Amino acid sequence: MGRLELKLLALLVLLTGVPLGVAFWLSGPLFERSLGAGLNPTIARALEDAVDVYGEYVRAEKARQEAVARSLADSRALADAAREGPAALERTLRRYAAAPRVFRVVLDPAEGSAAPPIEATTPREGDWLRRTVDLPVEGVPGYGRLRYTFGLERAFLERFERMETEVIRPFGALTADRERVADVFAWSFIGYLAGALFIAAGVSVYVGRRVTRRLQHLREAMEAVAAGELDARVEPAGRDEVADLARDFNQMAERLGAFHHRVQYLTQVSAWQGIARKLAHEIKNPLTPILLSVQQVHRSYKGDDARFRRTLDTAHEVVEQEVGTLKRLVENFSRFARLPAVTLAPEDLVAVARELAAAHPEIDGLEVVAPAAPLPLDLDRGLFRQALTNLLKNAHEALRDADGPPRVVLRVEPIREGGGRVVVEDNGPGVAADRRAEVFEPYVTDKHDGTGLGLAIVKRIVVEHGGAITLDASPLGGARFEITLPPPA
Ligand SMILES: Nc1ncnc2c1ncn2[C@@H]1O[C@H](COP(=O)(O)OP(=O)(O)O)[C@@H](O)[C@H]1O
Ligand SMILES: [Mg+2]
Repeated sequence: MGRLELKLLALLVLLTGVPLGVAFWLSGPLFERSLGAGLNPTIARALEDAVDVYGEYVRAEKARQEAVARSLADSRALADAAREGPAALERTLRRYAAAPRVFRVVLDPAEGSAAPPIEATTPREGDWLRRTVDLPVEGVPGYGRLRYTFGLERAFLERFERMETEVIRPFGALTADRERVADVFAWSFIGYLAGALFIAAGVSVYVGRRVTRRLQHLREAMEAVAAGELDARVEPAGRDEVADLARDFNQMAERLGAFHHRVQYLTQVSAWQGIARKLAHEIKNPLTPILLSVQQVHRSYKGDDARFRRTLDTAHEVVEQEVGTLKRLVENFSRFARLPAVTLAPEDLVAVARELAAAHPEIDGLEVVAPAAPLPLDLDRGLFRQALTNLLKNAHEALRDADGPPRVVLRVEPIREGGGRVVVEDNGPGVAADRRAEVFEPYVTDKHDGTGLGLAIVKRIVVEHGGAITLDASPLGGARFEITLPPPA
């Protein structure tokens, strides 16, 4: 695991663990207190007492009803009523039956008696739990037993039962388990904390890996560039700072590559210039003695051999001409060898192009396409003019034996990302695709009087400006040279 990953892990664990731990620490006593307030043994006892009170009440009511029944069976009231007659007996029974919670009071005939049972009933709504007390009766002729039926309302009983099973008993159990409840709370909190820490650790490792993996790619690319692989690039995935860094790195590698190529090219050019200088020197020195010697031979022949005279004349003429050509060549070589380095200054590319075109009226069909606004760039005015002159001259030469009206277009335009573009194109024969790379090398020419240095000079000047030059087929039908120049510093 990398150091960044470790840091992230520590941070996230701290960020989740500390607040949760503090919450646990703070809520522990709070929980204890609320647990104490709720699961209080006093409350549990009071609740149990309530159940007892209820039981007591039920028992007391039963006892009271039984006492009433017994007092009726034992009292003289029944015997007194029996003396008055069955109607009075029934009245008495009805009075008792009308008491609260009493349903029925019945006098049953004694064994062997033919008397009919006397009964008083009070109809009552609702669901009742009934109970009948059967008691012996004395002093009522013909009758031996009293059945007294009373009831307790079932809904009322059930309410208490429910209260007992659903509230009082569980509450009592909970109160007895108070320690365990606190433990469960603590353990669930600890479990929650552990889970949160685990998730935090997972997230931090995942995020950390993602970042470090991308940084690792960046580092590999950097090492590759440092080892000379200038085309090493990284995929700038995402939109964060690491992606920005990757993009910046790619841009830097791009620039480094371009810079490297430029340096390589300029080194090569300077080697060519060295050769040109040597060649110029070596060729130039013997030229004058050769010419002088031939002139002297030509002059000093005084004989009258006409054929020899003619031969001498021809030789003199040829040597003079060829020496002239060689001298021009030497001049070209030394001019290429002495080509100065560019000194950049702010210039208007549009103005440079227009002036140049105006200075070359001999080029037939030359047109300038340029914006009205100036295009400010850093240029070496003299050398850049020379470069454009070489391109225009080549176009002019290419059109020398073209049929149809000649066309040479000099186009100047700004580049959207900054900088400028110069295009020189013509409707001549063009350059075959497989020759387009080599024509920029020195001494490559297909003209009998050419040096092949023109385009080499153009490219050197453009590259020294920090620009680039390409050769393509023009839509006009001929060659299309395109120079791109960087924006001013
Ligand atoms: N506009 C053009 N149309 C066709 N061919 C061209 C053009 N410009 C350059 N060339 C080709 O590139 C060669 C090299 O050009 P250059 O370096 O200027 O040397 P030179 O003009 O002395 O031949 C030319 O000989 C010619 O074959
Ligand atoms: Mg040329």
